[in-house]
Amino acid sequence: MVVLGLETSCDETGVALYDTQRGLLSEALYSQVAVHAEYGGVVPELASRDHIRKTLPLIDRVLSDACLDKTDIDAVAYTSGPGLLGALIVGATVARSIAAGLGVPSLGVHHMEGHLMAPLLSDEPPGYPFVALLVSGGHTQLIRADAFGDYRLLGESVDDAAGEAFDKVAKLMGLPYPGGPVLDRMAAEGDGSAFAFTKPNVPGLDMSFSGLKTQIWQFLQQHVQRDPAFIEARKNDIAASVQCAILDILMDKVEAAVEQTGILRVAIAGGVSANRGLRARLRAKEEASGWEVFVPPMAYCTDNAAMIAMAGSLMFEAGARGRLDDEPVPRWAF
Ligand code: KG4
Ligand code: ZN
Repeated sequence: MVVLGLETSCDETGVALYDTQRGLLSEALYSQVAVHAEYGGVVPELASRDHIRKTLPLIDRVLSDACLDKTDIDAVAYTSGPGLLGALIVGATVARSIAAGLGVPSLGVHHMEGHLMAPLLSDEPPGYPFVALLVSGGHTQLIRADAFGDYRLLGESVDDAAGEAFDKVAKLMGLPYPGGPVLDRMAAEGDGSAFAFTKPNVPGLDMSFSGLKTQIWQFLQQHVQRDPAFIEARKNDIAASVQCAILDILMDKVEAAVEQTGILRVAIAGGVSANRGLRARLRAKEEASGWEVFVPPMAYCTDNAAMIAMAGSLMFEAGARGRLDDEPVPRWAF
């Protein structure tokens, strides 16, 4: 079964073809980062308009890259939420129009289920059960996955997501959006023990990042008052220390989740799973303990359509079918 997958929930237009027998056939991704850069964040109306421009040409491209014709598509999966409503409507409308025209089924996929399945796109996918740390711009969750479709939320951020914490701190430092990859690059050149921030005390497997952001804001204010050149002079050390504080929170909770569940298979997914510091700390943990760590290929950490096509194909195989009048869901718990 050949599944066409579309991802248009935010500022990336992703299109992919996934074959249940042969795996990923082709994919294309267009990032709108340049469109939104001058505004310091994603402008929803501009995102929708750009998805409209890019989706159909990218579908033509993935078909031609896979040497397939539209009539070879057996089903269409699209991200139906959570995300920006206008952007979701573009993907849903294109997906369902193609499906209706071809007389094949369509199906809406939860964006976070797509991220959760991304580690399965690697050469060494995790077996079940596994514990997943989902860390994106909108979500920070610890999930226990016992089978496809059988998930339990173990804990989550009670306020900001980890990616949001990276982005907000980067903004305070005057760095461009999205801040995560920029801080990641600067952190590699800095000293993570240069500045210490206190860790929030959140019970169980829940997490919090908003207090850290406030602490860093106060820290920067105090230093800049004394020395206006402070941020520029110490930017790599600040980035490394901030990253270290965020990763300490995440690693503590992942360790607690492993202890609580007794599951040693740990997967990460979502934009922040591209963070080199996080990947290195998990690899170090794998070497030092009995953990098996599963990290998606870089291209499948941030938003992409391969994960949507793949998750959609598993849903189609399980018999799921969407309806032409399904509404996209901008706020959708996972
Ligand atoms: O999963 P994603 O692409 O989109 C959402 O579903 O939100 O995640 C985007 C988030 C942004 O906050 C971005 O700053 C963060 O992932 N991010 C990173 C890195 N690459 C992306 N954060 C830290 N280090 C990175 N290398
Ligand atoms: Zn995402």
